[in-house]
Amino acid sequence: MTTLPISTPQVSPLEPHLDFIRSQFPALQSPWAFFDNAGGSQVLRGVAEKVSEYMLNTSVQLGASYATSQQAGQRVAEGVQAAARFINAADPREVILGSSATQLVANLAASIGEFFEPGDEIIVTDTDHEANIGAWTRLESRGIITKIWPINTQTLELDLETLGELMTANTRLVCFTHVSNVLGTINPVPEITKFVHERGAKVFVDGVAYAPHRRIDVQAWDVDFYLFSWYKVYGPHISLLFGKLERLIKLPSINHFFLPPDAVPYKLQPGNVNYELTSSLSGVTGYMDALQERLGVDSVAAVFDAFAAHESALAGRFLDYLKTKPRVRIIGHDSADPLKRVDTISFVIDGVASSDIPKFLDGQHVAVRYGHFYAYRLIQTLGLDQTEGVVRVSMAHYNTLEEVDRLTQGLEAFGL
Ligand SMILES: Cc1ncc(COP(=O)(O)O)c(C=O)c1O
Repeated sequence: MTTLPISTPQVSPLEPHLDFIRSQFPALQSPWAFFDNAGGSQVLRGVAEKVSEYMLNTSVQLGASYATSQQAGQRVAEGVQAAARFINAADPREVILGSSATQLVANLAASIGEFFEPGDEIIVTDTDHEANIGAWTRLESRGIITKIWPINTQTLELDLETLGELMTANTRLVCFTHVSNVLGTINPVPEITKFVHERGAKVFVDGVAYAPHRRIDVQAWDVDFYLFSWYKVYGPHISLLFGKLERLIKLPSINHFFLPPDAVPYKLQPGNVNYELTSSLSGVTGYMDALQERLGVDSVAAVFDAFAAHESALAGRFLDYLKTKPRVRIIGHDSADPLKRVDTISFVIDGVASSDIPKFLDGQHVAVRYGHFYAYRLIQTLGLDQTEGVVRVSMAHYNTLEEVDRLTQGLEAFGL
């Protein structure tokens, strides 16, 4: 076994609470160490109970006068309010819910595609999940011009200078990711948003890989649109799109023609929300509130700070291990600095196909994954299609140092 360098910061404010935390996720009782959380997190017991409660007792159509329908409506409204609070939206009408992040971008792009004129420009990056690229580039068929903001292949950062060179008077929207689901790098959303706004355009931010790890504050960041998926944030398989109210009111409806312009979010939410899953969202905020109390901190933001410290200890332990291995190339920042990265860590191994690692670790009950993770263009740009993509270890606040040690022991057994 390799001995870890002693410099690894391993102090975690969550450590005394991990038994409580893990007890809230029934699936964590299994023998598996789950390190595929960026693919999908474990679900809170409180969320699953709310789904069940809704389905077993209030599965009726909303909007009628009878008591059960009123109660069902109340439960769904509470879920939407919880979602608004989770992202610090000023108004619950700014919350659009849908079946997946991919679907929500496609819906918004369909509306924006009617709103923009031929010749208007949208900028996308080559580091994003394809959900936040393809929906926009497909608008080229309507005469909208799309441009790629390329990653700096030396630093693996998105440079503002490069963005500045791409933007013109016709640039209407800049779409980028908050955290790359491969690199784990946190992009400075407030800074990029300010830069884009000063040049007269709006931003669309994919926060799917950020949301499980840090506090979202759409008002503080002044973002125009923000996206994430609840099934990666300890909740049900639905997703959320935030849009500033004044923007949503201006956008064309993709729902029934007779809806008025201020029918938000309904005009951008065809078919309405999934009732039972929406009602369960208060299970996620309820968990965050319970943690706030247990940790004795004064805000949910402070709970997320504790997540960041814990996750940085996990990431530090694993990155320090990887750095002792000459055949390993870490794809992304090799420091566990919680301001720079989340604990989604990708790597490749000289002379080893990335697919070999998960297959081997399956035998040790350690769940990791390999591939392009739909960040297809990033993998191609970095030449990593040659190695069958990357091996990705994606952790969450409920993972433990002991689980990281099981992972490194598994990699040792592989012969790393
Ligand atoms: C960064 C990022 N964006 C978007 C998506 C797509 O999310 P969904 O599965 O909800 O469509 C994912 C899914 O893995 C992702 O990691």
